Amino acid sequence: MRYNLSEIKAVIEDRRTIIPENYSTRKVHKEIVMELLDAAKWAPTHRYTQPWSFKVFIGDGVKKLAEFQSQLYKELKSDCFEQEKYDKLRDRPLMASAIIGICLKRDEAERDPIEEEIASVSMAVQNMMLVAGAHGIGAFWSTGGVTYWPQTKEWMGLSEKDKFLGFLYLGYPKEGWPRKTRRKPQEYFTSWDEG
Ligand SMILES: Cc1cc2nc3c(=O)[nH]c(=O)nc-3n(C[C@H](O)[C@H](O)[C@H](O)COP(=O)(O)O)c2cc1C
Repeated sequence: MRYNLSEIKAVIEDRRTIIPENYSTRKVHKEIVMELLDAAKWAPTHRYTQPWSFKVFIGDGVKKLAEFQSQLYKELKSDCFEQEKYDKLRDRPLMASAIIGICLKRDEAERDPIEEEIASVSMAVQNMMLVAGAHGIGAFWSTGGVTYWPQTKEWMGLSEKDKFLGFLYLGYPKEGWPRKTRRKPQEYFTSWDEG
């Protein structure tokens, strides 16, 4: 065995989504975020398109994101405005040390189906979540709020063919997190054909 498999399995199995409400005040430093981004780039891609692009909000950057999304909500949802939703858009980013905007830059020639590009970006995100987990950092991939609004895509500097796939929140968890969750055993999701 080239690697310590029990540790690799533990990192995979112990990775848990931890939402910003369960982060402590301890800050995740920029150097660690850079380490996550370095892990992201090793995800496999068909034709080496490497379609990911990440915009990191850190320090006062999270305030900018909070301002952007809460104001956008206020402007666009004035007819069905809900104070609670507005507050969440304004306050949640401030609970995180850093937030990574998950972007997909579409291959100019569109050589591969978009499903493959989304799969690659998702694997890049998983790489980041695993490295975060190994550091004891909580991560949360959020696709709520303004994620799929065209104005968000534009604000992220993306063009029509690109995609904005959500926000990866990062923060050290409070005491008591992560908690265990369950998964169905493989019999539920696997069929075998052994000839
Ligand atoms: C693409 C994607 C989008 C997600 N978006 C949200 C979201 O908007 N809100 C949310 O509460 N959880 C979101 N999640 C996190 C899931 O809720 C979480 O992964 C799930 O509860 C399983 O928990 P675990 O990651 O600890 O195994 C998202 C996960 C993925 C992969």
